[in-house]
Amino acid sequence: MAETAAASTVGPSELAALKQVALSGGLDGQTKLSCSGLADSLDASAQTASRRLQRLDDAGLVDREVLADGQRVTISDAGEARLRREYGDYRQLFESDASLALTGTVTSGMGEGRHYISLSGYMSQFRDRLGYEPFAGTLNVELTPESVRSRAEVAALSASATRIDGWEDGDRTFGPATCYAARVEADGDTYDGAHVIVPERTHHDETQLELIAPVKLREVLDLSDGDRLTIHLGEA
Ligand code: CDP
Repeated sequence: MAETAAASTVGPSELAALKQVALSGGLDGQTKLSCSGLADSLDASAQTASRRLQRLDDAGLVDREVLADGQRVTISDAGEARLRREYGDYRQLFESDASLALTGTVTSGMGEGRHYISLSGYMSQFRDRLGYEPFAGTLNVELTPESVRSRAEVAALSASATRIDGWEDGDRTFGPATCYAARVEADGDTYDGAHVIVPERTHHDETQLELIAPVKLREVLDLSDGDRLTIHLGEA
């Protein structure tokens, strides 16, 4: 991932440039951009604007094509996710209802969730911090393309977030994760009291979310692979 490069080169100035690229159409496909135009909107020199674009490009947040009459810039999926994280923060600040609904379908994983959730180093924290012992496993949800884009807004839901610390067992280390209180709705039925669990370092692809709950959600909500569900997050 370009995460390390992004962290070292993308600061508030680059983010401001990314926002300007979005405002000139960079989220909808290629937008024609001149460095002097960008410089004007950023109140910076053309050279500075060009350097910021370069950094956004290096961090994988934009894709650029340089043509004779200027450059075409598109915001990448990672760039959109970065902007959505900001958007999530502003929603928290200014909207009375900043809840988030993510939609997807039930899917089966490779049985890894069962193993991890049952480890005592995690289980004791779930008990203390979430107030329940989860059913041994995670329910995997394959998100719709729209919800894949919105998932970056989850990070802003700090009021309903619970941190699970990483821990060590001999020479093995187990990474930290964040749990977000969630209400799960499927076919008219609803279960309030689940959590979306987001590992800090994940090998899951960005299109999936994992749910934990004190109950087996497949039983309580009568779910099979392919069934559609909605995950409501950040509700008051
Ligand atoms: O095999 P897979 O990785 O999908 O699942 P697991 O994490 O080993 O969990 C065992 C089974 O319980 C799977 O069918 C999950 O979808 C399901 N599950 C559930 O229904 N409710 C939960 N709270 C956790 C897991």
